[in-house]
Amino acid sequence: MRTAIQQLPGSKIREVANAAMGRSDVLAFWFGESDEPTPAFIRDAATRSIQDGETFYSHNLGLPELRQAVADYTSGLHRPVSAQRIAITSSGVNALMLAMQALAGPGDEVVVVVPVWPNLTAQPAILGAQVVRVSLKAEGGAWRLDMARLLEAVTPRTRVLVVNAPNNPTGWTLSRAEQQTILDHCRRTGTWVVADEVYERIHFGTADVAAVGGASTCAPSFLDVAEPDDRLVVAHSFSKSFLMTGWRLGWLVVPPSLTEAVGKLIEYNTSCAPVFVQRAGLAGLQGAAGFVPGLVQRLRACRDTLLPQLAALPGVQVAVPEGGMYAFFRVEGQNDSLAFAKRLVAEAGLGLAPGVAFGPEAEGWLRWCFASKDPTRLSDGVQRLAAMVRL
Ligand SMILES: Cc1ncc(COP(=O)(O)O)c(C=O)c1O
Repeated sequence: MRTAIQQLPGSKIREVANAAMGRSDVLAFWFGESDEPTPAFIRDAATRSIQDGETFYSHNLGLPELRQAVADYTSGLHRPVSAQRIAITSSGVNALMLAMQALAGPGDEVVVVVPVWPNLTAQPAILGAQVVRVSLKAEGGAWRLDMARLLEAVTPRTRVLVVNAPNNPTGWTLSRAEQQTILDHCRRTGTWVVADEVYERIHFGTADVAAVGGASTCAPSFLDVAEPDDRLVVAHSFSKSFLMTGWRLGWLVVPPSLTEAVGKLIEYNTSCAPVFVQRAGLAGLQGAAGFVPGLVQRLRACRDTLLPQLAALPGVQVAVPEGGMYAFFRVEGQNDSLAFAKRLVAEAGLGLAPGVAFGPEAEGWLRWCFASKDPTRLSDGVQRLAAMVRL
């Protein structure tokens, strides 16, 4: 086995969750998904497709009607995008891996803004690239980008810059001006930007957003500032905004020059996303205007339930998330997040993700996924944490 694969860390979130296997008394907030199932109108579309016998391979790049629907949806949020620039993928993870396979190989330098969902640093490492971590800074509870530090790290040697905003786990979001600065810099250095924007619709800010019919919000996107031919790849997922984590469906927006290569890579990775899953995604996009704003409102209510209660606990410092579905916080005196997360499960029946799962930069922090159809679960969780904080 290759050394890079041997050296991949195991998931520290799983390590905590495994300790609770078979315990029904644990309130679990460790994984990045809601406890609300996929809406019926999406499930029904998949059922119809299966009943209609759509059980065959499809085009590598996805059903033409789904590619068109993604292009229309994206164009409704950002600058116009053509269907030729869309590749349908078997999840957001798969979209990001395909992007990395297309752009980076052994010895290439890949700069990643951290702390971040661990797949984004593992993927280039698997491909033999050299990963350079540039850390956000925690200042007074909020995580901020040190732009000067990032621009210094991205040089003509840098093949790819990976940025995830809204960010998992910190909730940090890029402003449009920052995106412009990063893109301009990467144009100068000849660096590709891989933007993970899977949480773009789950954005709580009001300023600097692209309003969709005035009814909903969307985080600023690199697509708002880029030209079609820029070295920019944007990765998306149906998992978060359509509550479809288990379906494994996502997409990439790529420059026209990259579409063919991504199609070939899909052939050799998965060949295509399942057709009935693509039909479900299509139904989701067609119903987006009637569904996503309500979901974001429910998530905002969850955030607004959890955050003040967390912040009121003694010794707790919490970053207010501008987007995403996570509260990221630290408890005074608890500097080993893995050990503390394990104790929270064992002694309080509370399941959280340890910050160190997102990199050493986030050691001492904990991540709490607040996406729940029942916000009282969040308050119950805070009570359990409170008992441990007072110890
Ligand atoms: C930042 C980020 N990007 C991408 C994904 C991938 O989502 P999926 O593979 O479910 O589409 C996740 C999932 O948690 C994520 O947090």
